[in-house]
Amino acid sequence: MQEAEAKRRILDGKHSQAVRRKLIARTPRSAEVRGLSETLSQEVAQTVELPHPIYVDSAEGCRMTDVDGNTYIDMTMGFGPCVLGLRPPAVLAAVQAQLERGWHFGIPNRQQAELARLVEQASPCGERVVFCNTGTEATLTAMRVARAFTGKTKVAVFDGCYHGAHDYALIHADLQSERSRPAGKAVGAGIPDVIRNATMMVLPYRDDAAFDLIREHRDELAAVFIEPVQSSNPRLDCEDFLRNLLAVCRESEALLCFDEVITGFRIAFGGCQEHYGITPDLATYGKALAAGFPIGAVAGSREVMRCFSGSGGAPWMFSGGTFSGNPLSMTAGLAAMTELRERKDALYPYLMEQGDRLANEVNRFCRDNQFAAQLLHAGSTFHLRFQGSRINSSRDLTDDGKWAEKEFYLHLLGHGVIIPGIHLAFISAAHTPEDVDAIIDAIKRSFMDLREDGLL
Ligand SMILES: Cc1ncc(COP(=O)(O)O)c(C=O)c1O
Repeated sequence: MQEAEAKRRILDGKHSQAVRRKLIARTPRSAEVRGLSETLSQEVAQTVELPHPIYVDSAEGCRMTDVDGNTYIDMTMGFGPCVLGLRPPAVLAAVQAQLERGWHFGIPNRQQAELARLVEQASPCGERVVFCNTGTEATLTAMRVARAFTGKTKVAVFDGCYHGAHDYALIHADLQSERSRPAGKAVGAGIPDVIRNATMMVLPYRDDAAFDLIREHRDELAAVFIEPVQSSNPRLDCEDFLRNLLAVCRESEALLCFDEVITGFRIAFGGCQEHYGITPDLATYGKALAAGFPIGAVAGSREVMRCFSGSGGAPWMFSGGTFSGNPLSMTAGLAAMTELRERKDALYPYLMEQGDRLANEVNRFCRDNQFAAQLLHAGSTFHLRFQGSRINSSRDLTDDGKWAEKEFYLHLLGHGVIIPGIHLAFISAAHTPEDVDAIIDAIKRSFMDLREDGLL
């Protein structure tokens, strides 16, 4: 079928109607909840093109149950934190016990010190750690400490990155700009021009031209931030680029920060730093660190982290927040990190093996059946792209398959597997090999459904 005809069928709503009707019929309570308020923000979590989102009631292991009692195999994993699965028993028990003793003190608690020690042991660059509540706060704080330490202003990020929702992090590459010298562009309104013009710069990803730009801007560049594995382009063949980047940052006296909010305690216990054997100056964490409780952390060398206290003559900088280091997140973190450390020798190879198996099977299936799609992956992190051509950086992404994508996720939900609207997917320690088989089967069937609909 011609692409134009397929698109017309989507717009006419003449495709996927059986599965759409089936999903609507089995989610009446979700429809009721949708009716409660028009103001709820659903954009990120909206899973598929239904008149209403699927509202979740409970979750356990790798399964979620919605308010209508339907159960799905989940690949959202809370947007990444749930490396141990949803509602891991050890975290539940620890948090329940802490609730009895109180959940908010302001002044420090014992778990904070214990968790800091665990992170310092796990994080190759982390001689000192500071806690906050989200990954966004972590990257904001890490940018400030880099500026404080170096006395320089600009922070560089890469094309295709995501570092959270603060103003600096929302300067992304302008896709109209030159590929090897990307211009920055604010994501959405409300971000002053001065942020883009005076405080940030964007570098080309997986491209040596980035190194020339760093050298060129060395006098104003406080730090380079990079996701050592990008969530928009998950893959593990990044070692050489990261190693060369570290060398250029050292030479240019700019700090290198690995944003390990997703990769930390997921790719390996020591994150990408351990996986690649590369130690930057700073690392940011969140997500898996507290198994789904709100948390963020900045870790770094003793010298740089002195700025938080102003000790040893370091330039003092402000950081802090009412809920930073709160007892519930610290308790959850301590339970999660203790379990991850105890299980690490078996758990991380398991996630790699199952992740490879899932991606290889899906990619082989797509090749054999000539579906223009590929499952990018780094261990247990996945991003399905609806294009057959090679992807090196996010600049290679095309919109060609976009029109079939939403329908794919609709079919996938119909086959009992949930992937969130951001299309970033994960497996966890709670996904058994049988669950992974079921996911592979559901993905294959969804592709076949698309073909039957005439959409791919
Ligand atoms: C690499 C990275 N950094 C920072 C963030 C922001 O974290 P949070 O959503 O907890 O604010 C995210 C969120 O997905 C992320 O993937």
